Amino acid sequence: MKTLCRLESIPDPGAREFRAVVDGEKRRVFVVRKGGQVFGYVNSCPHVGAPLNLEDDKFLDLFQTSILCANHFALFDIESGACTRGPCQGRSLQPFAVEIIDGEVVQKA
Ligand code: FES
Repeated sequence: MKTLCRLESIPDPGAREFRAVVDGEKRRVFVVRKGGQVFGYVNSCPHVGAPLNLEDDKFLDLFQTSILCANHFALFDIESGACTRGPCQGRSLQPFAVEIIDGEVVQKA
């Protein structure tokens, strides 16, 4: 179990990027906060495998209601990671399992 940050250090709604080991590999990952819930994903778009963001910690669309890939504007559902619009429709972001323990966002073991 690895502590990533305090929940309140992620804007609501908003996201933060981290580095973490996923399946034995060091990866870029991000965590989206929505109220008291968090949703984590590997920062790799299923379209061409590029990082989704162009600016630090910017992972949401203008309305802050979906995850946005800034490369070709695919949209993803925050809760499920499923692509809802764009070139990778039918595919999903790779989950990065996180939970909140005593106000800390932690990577699930
Ligand atoms: S790389 Fe994400 S939509 Fe093309």
